Amino acid sequence: MDTLTLTRPDDCHLHLRDGPALAAVLADSARRFARAVVMPNLRPPVTTVAAALAYGERIRAALPTGADFTPLLTLYLTEATPASELRAAKAAGLVGVKLYPAGATTHSDAGVHRLEAIHPQLDVMQDIDLPLLVHGEVTDPKVDVFDREAVFIERHLAPLVARFPALRVVLEHVTTREGVEFVRAARPGVAASITPQHLSLNRGALFEGGLRPHHYCLPVLKREEHRAAVLAAAISGDPRFFLGTDSAPHAQTAKESACGCAGIYSAHGGIELYAEAFDAAGALDKLDAFASRHGADFYGLPRNTGTLMLRREPVPVPDSLPFGDQRLVPLRAGGQLAWQVVA
Ligand code: DOR
Ligand code: ZN
Repeated sequence: MDTLTLTRPDDCHLHLRDGPALAAVLADSARRFARAVVMPNLRPPVTTVAAALAYGERIRAALPTGADFTPLLTLYLTEATPASELRAAKAAGLVGVKLYPAGATTHSDAGVHRLEAIHPQLDVMQDIDLPLLVHGEVTDPKVDVFDREAVFIERHLAPLVARFPALRVVLEHVTTREGVEFVRAARPGVAASITPQHLSLNRGALFEGGLRPHHYCLPVLKREEHRAAVLAAAISGDPRFFLGTDSAPHAQTAKESACGCAGIYSAHGGIELYAEAFDAAGALDKLDAFASRHGADFYGLPRNTGTLMLRREPVPVPDSLPFGDQRLVPLRAGGQLAWQVVA
């Protein structure tokens, strides 16, 4: 099978940024995906419905002519988010509310310090059926960085899912065996998104021939056994696992720095990288559901019509891409993708 026809896929976790950065990256996602759940960690963060809708307008305005792409907007949860804002979010069609533990990742400083402080918000979200999208890592400096997801699940996520039994929850960018097992064993309404890097790379990629800042993201890449568990979940056909690239562009200078930013740009291969991983695992027949159905079903959105065709034919990846007045180094820079989008 050298061509693959998918239903147009959805990217259930995407960073599009704003301004010139948005203009530089948006076409890559719009070429591949019909819709994307767009993360709200802008500066300042998208903490109000008005800000989210205005951001949605800027995204639409930045689309290439003729593109058919719908941003699915989200709200950035803070300890001060009022119930009225959550109800307004639901009414305005926002698809979820993102929980960043304060200090866990890029632009998370306005996030949540104490989970107990957002119980009132979670009560409302449960009531109105507005999903909680979780960056699942503790920030405790005493917890090893490679263990932060597993510890977050045990200390915080499992109790939260039990305490709010009807709240729909996405463990974003799951990276560990513990994360996969948690979702598999969880009550209905709990799901996880999976990135291309956590499917295809283990933590060795951070040190391959030297320090590799372009393989640094959060949650950080894990041991091989965890990569294998994440891949097994993705190709299992289990509807609780779906595609979310977490494509997170940062300027080359911000990545290649004494304190490099976390984030991997993958939107240029947003479906191709998954096709490679599924193909290598002999599971190409499972890609359509993972990429095009499970996410839509979780979010209660209509499945896309239309198709996206891929061909197994290598295509080179440039060393860098334009990024406003800067450059952006994509995943696989200087290498190649084994699949390409043809229509
Ligand atoms: O690597 C990451 N980059 N992880 C995140 O959670 C945020 C993202 C970003 O916005 O750059
Ligand atoms: Zn993200």
